[in-house]
Amino acid sequence: MAMTAATAVPNSLEEHWMPFTGNRDFKENPRLVVRGEGCYFWDHKGGKVLDGSSSLFNVALGHGRSEIAEAVHEQLRTNDYVPPFQLGHPGSFALAREVSKLTPQGLNHVFFTNSGSESVDTALKIAMAYHQARGEGARLRFVSRERAYHGVNIGGVSLSGMVKNRETFPVTMPWVLTMRHTWLPENRYARGQGKHGGVELADDLARFCQTYGGQTIAAVFVEPIAGSTGCLVPPEGYLERLREICDEHGILLVFDEVICGFGRLGAPFAAQAFGVTPDIITMAKALTNGAQPMGAVAVKDEIYETIVEAAPEGAIEFFHGYTYSGHPAACAAGLATLAIYERENTFAHARELSAYFLDQVFALADIELITDIRGFGLFAGFDLKPDGAPGRRGTAMQKKLFWNGLHVKFTGDSGVLAPPLVAGRDEIDEMVRILRETLAGETA
Ligand SMILES: Cc1ncc(COP(=O)(O)O)c(C=O)c1O
Repeated sequence: MAMTAATAVPNSLEEHWMPFTGNRDFKENPRLVVRGEGCYFWDHKGGKVLDGSSSLFNVALGHGRSEIAEAVHEQLRTNDYVPPFQLGHPGSFALAREVSKLTPQGLNHVFFTNSGSESVDTALKIAMAYHQARGEGARLRFVSRERAYHGVNIGGVSLSGMVKNRETFPVTMPWVLTMRHTWLPENRYARGQGKHGGVELADDLARFCQTYGGQTIAAVFVEPIAGSTGCLVPPEGYLERLREICDEHGILLVFDEVICGFGRLGAPFAAQAFGVTPDIITMAKALTNGAQPMGAVAVKDEIYETIVEAAPEGAIEFFHGYTYSGHPAACAAGLATLAIYERENTFAHARELSAYFLDQVFALADIELITDIRGFGLFAGFDLKPDGAPGRRGTAMQKKLFWNGLHVKFTGDSGVLAPPLVAGRDEIDEMVRILRETLAGETA
């Protein structure tokens, strides 16, 4: 029987240990979603909720895209699973080719994973394998940044700059150096890239090179826009300067584009939006529009060729992979999703809608509770005055907004807005109206 609002509430919520959720609180007052269509969810009480963060930044084309569902269905009926080690199926090659058409020039080799976290760990291993293949295996250090989010596997947690994601898990990778985050008070309420501090912040990397020796650093991982901590747009000159320092010292530059990729910034990747080309791009989220779990890592051709050519003829070159790398159903979802992006000109639409979106979001600056707003493309973050303990107000607000008809992802006291790329002005208006009404009713 189909799930409906009337039948959706299960007998017990106890057994499912929910991720990144206050389980006790949730189970007392659950928020169950029972249907999704277009830019909306429907909750178990029948309420309609605008998906203001494209769910978790992944459902870029809106919910219930039948072309994607049909492609997955068809794939599962004809060729449901193929072992990805020493065997292949046409879909993964086709999808890698389509992804490589979107990545910047020269990044034409794609390794498939099942999530953003796996993409980050895969990129760490690719960086290690590349340097070893070049006889530079002494590059043991990795560089990351405060307030960074690179997923939840041990590699990604080692790179994490989010305190709560690290503090319970003391055993992580050694040799990780952390640059300062890119939020500066001088750039508060900057629309797009802030004017202050870009080069100086990036020079944290130059200082590490000076202190530890650039030849000891394997790779630098950055989210071009730090997403999970509240859309921290890099100040002008920041990414360019990182690129320069990496080139000077033979360090790989990795853009973690798990959120930024696939049109969020009005271009296929942040690399094109900011005009800075990394050596490796990690991606996931909007690759399949959330319809199937999937991630990918695109690398410069030279990286692939170096690793592959270093191995003896006929041998496995890279001892890494997942049972579900390039799963046929995920590839089918990815191919269908990328076809829609192309057919509907989704990235151009996102680029055109951006100015209107940012106008409306920045107009919220008069609300007393808000202390900063940032934004680029169809991506924005706002900070709320904390209510005693950090995160208390953000968590309360996320729940209140949901019951008022708007889903917004919060991290701590920062809300992150990322409307579906197919949204129009009406959905943007509705989003800011609910935000204004909900936030204006609160006292600082
Ligand atoms: C930049 C970045 N990297 C990695 C991840 C982890 O992705 P996943 O949750 O699919 O493992 C995320 C998730 O939000 C992310 O934003």
